[in-house]
This record gives sequence, structure tokens and C-alpha cells, in this order.
Amino acid sequence: MQEWLAQGASPLDLTRETHSALAAIGLLAAYVITRHRFVGRRAFEFLTMVSFAIPGTVIGVSYIVALHVAPLELTGGSSLLNGMYYFRGDVPLREFAAAQGTIVGLGVRAFGRRILPELPFEEAFFLPFARQFRRELDMPLILLGGINERATIDGALAEGFEFVAMARALLREPDLVNRMATSANAMGLCVHCNKCMPTIYRGTHCVLVPEGERA
Ligand SMILES: Cc1cc2nc3c(=O)[nH]c(=O)nc-3n(C[C@H](O)[C@H](O)[C@H](O)COP(=O)(O)O)c2cc1C
Ligand code: SF4
Repeated sequence: MQEWLAQGASPLDLTRETHSALAAIGLLAAYVITRHRFVGRRAFEFLTMVSFAIPGTVIGVSYIVALHVAPLELTGGSSLLNGMYYFRGDVPLREFAAAQGTIVGLGVRAFGRRILPELPFEEAFFLPFARQFRRELDMPLILLGGINERATIDGALAEGFEFVAMARALLREPDLVNRMATSANAMGLCVHCNKCMPTIYRGTHCVLVPEGERA
């Protein structure tokens, strides 16, 4: 497994077909739970959540066991539970639906708000949770999630985080760190539209960066 991970693969790197099949099952379950009243509905709803939660949890624990080396990156868990939990910001429903097949795409349009409930973007949205890890652990930690400003990085380092990680800010502007290195007020240009999320199926990119200028 470590060899596979060392090649840059992730246990969460599912194929487009697997994503579609999971989405179709989720949509069907959401439809039945929302539209029908029947004995055992609550138990069924609970079991559908368990069936999503357990694989993600097992993968998460396997990750920790396999990669039991410092520094530890404090991520937001699995996208199978709530895809917006570790993104925050706009829900790119139309783009997400378009990236799926026709049938799943229709389902995403109809029930997408249930699958991807919107959570507001806040700078460093995982910081309150990450602080709890910082208090309890001595090992080097990486703060992740909504880091867009040099001031946030300065604050995180001052609080004892050894590193920060940035995803969308650097997708939007790959040389942002150069700007941040020379200006204490530097802020990223990412607008948290999350339209890069569905581009994972055709070559991950920021939709605001013109094709010829992508890294
Ligand atoms: C295009 C894209 C694809 C991502 N794919 C994954 C993924 O496969 N697994 C994962 O755990 N996180 C994934 N993430 C989430 C990031 O690792 C990160 O947790 C999230 O974007 C929040 O950080 P940010 O605010 O710096 O973007 C992805 C993010 C983006 C923008
Ligand atoms: S598409 Fe670009 S601007 Fe929108 S969230 Fe992704 S990186 Fe940020």
C-alpha cells in the first residue's frame, strides 16, 4: 500500500464509474427516504449513513497506520460523507451534474442540495479543530483548509503549526507563495466557487485560469 501511495495514488482516488455508481445508490436511497414513509425508515436512513461512514473511517484509519510518519496533515476526512465539508463555499451543482453521466447528472440536479449541502467559506475553517490536535500532540502538524492569506499563515506558525497546506489558492495562482513571501498583506485570488472540483474527471484546473496559462 505504501508503494502505491508513494506513487501519488490515494485510496480515495475512485474512478468516474465508481463515483457515478455511488452517487446513483445515494440518490436512490435519498429518494426513498425523502418521498416514502415506512416502518424502519429511520433505521434505513441510519444504515445508509453507516454504509458510507464505515468505509471512509476504515480508509482514514488505514491512512494513519500506513503513513504513521510526521508531519501529520489535518484534513477534513472523506468526501463520501459530505463533499462540501472540506471545501466550503459555493456548491458547483450544475458543473458537477454535467461531469456525470446523463442519468446520474439528472439525479444530481434533482437531489444535489441534499448530497452536497452548502457550508459557508471562512478563512482557515479547520483552525478551531486543528487547535485541539495542537494542544494534545507533540508531533509536527500541517494546518489545512481555507488558507488564502499570508496573515493566516503567520498566525498558524505563531500558534505552533509547523506547516500549512493550500489547495485551491495554489490551483488558482500557482506562484502565490512568491507574492506572499514579499508582502505581509498578500491574499489569494481564489473565490471559492469550487468549480475546479468537477474538473478532476478531465484534468484538474481552476476554471478562472485561461487554458494557455495553466501550470
Ligand atoms: C480539485 C480538488 C480535488 C481534491 N481532491 C481531493 C481528494 O481526492 N481527496 C482529499 O482528501 N481531498 C481532496 N481535495 C481537498 C483538499 O485536499 C483540501 O482539503 C481542500 O481543498 C481544502 O483546502 P483549500 O481550502 O486549501 O482548498 C481536493 C481539492 C481540490 C480543489
Ligand atoms: S475554480 Fe479556481 S477560483 Fe474557483 S474554487 Fe477552484 S481554484 Fe478557486
